[in-house]
Amino acid sequence: MTWNTWIRQFHRWLSIIFTAVVAVIFITLGVGVEPAYWVYLMPLIPLGLLMLSGLYLFALPYATRWRSRRRTA
Ligand code: HEM
Repeated sequence: MTWNTWIRQFHRWLSIIFTAVVAVIFITLGVGVEPAYWVYLMPLIPLGLLMLSGLYLFALPYATRWRSRRRTA
């Protein structure tokens, strides 16, 4: 597995974890349980990692184009 594929898989699975954490928080609120303050901050961990890996994925096609243009120049 190449580095880029690994980052894409990481982003994909992290999105599932992030969604599950947010869903669990809403479910606990729905059943009338008020979670502790730190529980609300928990989704920020996968969201921060999603942002970093997402920005990497965003930059990939531009970096590839930039590198191939330098090679042909
Ligand atoms: C926080 C900032 C985020 C940025 C900058 C970002 C950026 C990106 C980029 C650039 C791609 C690749 C698109 C492509 O090449 O077609 C991508 C794919 C994806 N993103 Fe994000 N993303 C972010 C957050 C999220 C979140 C919050 C979720 C869902 C909870 C999410 C779920 C996904 C999924 C499922 C894919 C497809 C991955 C695959 O190829 O299997 N992303 N994202």
